Amino acid sequence: MAIRRICKYGEKILEKKTGKVDFDAVKKELPGLLSDMFETMAAVGGAGLAANQVGVDLRLAAISIKREDEPPLNIVIINPEIVERSGSSYEEEGCLSFPGLFAKVRRAAKVKVRALNEKGLPIEINAEGLFARALQHEIDHLDGLVFISRLPLISRLKLKPSLPGLKRRWKKLDESKLVRRPKPGADE
Ligand code: CO
Repeated sequence: MAIRRICKYGEKILEKKTGKVDFDAVKKELPGLLSDMFETMAAVGGAGLAANQVGVDLRLAAISIKREDEPPLNIVIINPEIVERSGSSYEEEGCLSFPGLFAKVRRAAKVKVRALNEKGLPIEINAEGLFARALQHEIDHLDGLVFISRLPLISRLKLKPSLPGLKRRWKKLDESKLVRRPKPGADE
């Protein structure tokens, strides 16, 4: 397991639609990639991470939603598609490819997503709240869309002047150099 560097805004792979996953072709490397993605998310405190955010051109993402008094809800979505959306929610959102930047984005309040899980089995997810938001955010990543492209025009215009400076700073960040925290229950 390893923490991987997260691609930042401005890196081309974030703005390219990812390739559909041929499950049998990737199943050997998949467990390693997924455990790295969950470890990376845990290290930086993220709720979701798309494969192209760690430089891998595959249509898959990992989601980890914190819950009170329960372990986090960890879900893998492979070749996900949103098949239903309803309602509307306008809430603050961030992205590991834009460290420290938060902005309000309008999303559907509820979504139904069809995907494959980490075993290659078809799953259907009905989500609302933060989970629904994370699914929409990650599926956007897989389509090559970053969250600031979803901002209202006025917010985008306000953000624009500070982006070049932020981009330069973000480029230098390398999460793979973070010191790994010992796992709870580990021997040492
Ligand atoms: Co993101």
